[in-house]
Amino acid sequence: MAEHVVTRYRDAEQTLRLPDLHQALYDADTVFLPRTVVCLHGEDHTKKKRIFSSVFNRRFFRHYQNHVFPKALKETMDPVIADGRGDMARFAYRVLINLTADSAGIDRRHTEADTDRLLALLAKLGHAPTMGQLTDPSDRDRLLAELEEALEAFRVEFFEPSLARRRALVDRHNRGEIDRADLPQDAITVQLIHHPTDADLPYDERMKDAAFFILAGAFTTANSLMNMVNEVLDWFEDHPEDRRRLLDDPVLMQRFIWENARLHPASPITKRRALCPMDLPDGHHTAADDYVTLDLTRTNRNTDLFGADAEAFNPYRDLPDTLPQHGLSFGGGMHVCLGKLLAVGVKLTDDNKDAEETEVGTMALVMRALLRHGIARDPERRAQIDESTARRHFATLPFVLDPALAVADAA
Ligand code: HEM
Repeated sequence: MAEHVVTRYRDAEQTLRLPDLHQALYDADTVFLPRTVVCLHGEDHTKKKRIFSSVFNRRFFRHYQNHVFPKALKETMDPVIADGRGDMARFAYRVLINLTADSAGIDRRHTEADTDRLLALLAKLGHAPTMGQLTDPSDRDRLLAELEEALEAFRVEFFEPSLARRRALVDRHNRGEIDRADLPQDAITVQLIHHPTDADLPYDERMKDAAFFILAGAFTTANSLMNMVNEVLDWFEDHPEDRRRLLDDPVLMQRFIWENARLHPASPITKRRALCPMDLPDGHHTAADDYVTLDLTRTNRNTDLFGADAEAFNPYRDLPDTLPQHGLSFGGGMHVCLGKLLAVGVKLTDDNKDAEETEVGTMALVMRALLRHGIARDPERRAQIDESTARRHFATLPFVLDPALAVADAA
């Protein structure tokens, strides 16, 4: 089977919208992802996506941003503040796993031990999306066995108790004992409302959907956050005045976040398989079963669109309204990211930036907390990139909280 690589932004944008291209990025994983929303196609995909999308309404965002997330953030910030230092490679995952576990509908005691157990299981499941991008493909069988094991532990320790509690609540709602508005707002609950029995939705699929939801939300955002911290700390060396500006100006903060997303898409590529012979927007012809790879790192760095300095981190780049600064980092077409608003917010302007209900996104909330406490590079420990996949993951990204850089009223 031939593989065709798309590297031009506008071609990729149109290619992602073609209905006869099937998701293929996760083909190497035969255990975990095949029946999750990111791999389904056509009507099956539309149905599942519609259900999940209904979790993310304005009420959800407001509640999470103003009530749930500040708690998750505080839980993760407190030990780092006490130590005066931390490692983004742990911090980012801890803070985001709590948020996405809540939106998936996974209950847990809010202890560091529970968070770390869930993280350890998801770290194993996290190999599924990157399995097709392994630098050493002989690792595949071992990783598939680990996937099975991690899924079973996730099922027993987290999924089953969370499902049972929600089933009881949905039953009470069906008997008219509680209002719909009083049900938890999360992925497991909406699925129970729409597909109450295992005949409607097999148990195994329900469990994998919940695990995927956490993975899709936490690992992508954590990766983006680590790159963001790395870029921003470099940027401050030449532009120290922006440290304070970022805290004062949410529109500028979003520019930084989107610029970072453009340069460092959570996955450097996405991949599709042609369901029939077709002409692609870039003029290339593919046969049925050929692969079409969309190189997001390259599309996001097209100099004719993003400027001669497209390879550089420049949050101040001036782009037309028709070109989002984050490029194609949240995908496009039928598989476009479901959690973009949660991660990076709505487009901020001077008109909406100060309104309480405006979604600024979790990345901005975390960055604000770190900047207020004076995040800086740890002079004694260097950052290291994990080279085991083509994705740019940090093995370690140590930082200190420097009181001299903190803002006076940081709690
Ligand atoms: C900076 C953070 C994020 C980035 C860069 C990101 C990126 C992406 C990309 C590129 C895709 C499309 C994959 C493809 O076409 O193969 C995607 C899909 C998806 N994302 Fe995100 N994502 C982020 C955060 C989130 C969050 C916070 C959630 C949920 C809580 C989420 C849930 C999903 C889901 C469910 C899909 C699958 C949608 C579908 O297949 O129809 N993402 N994301």
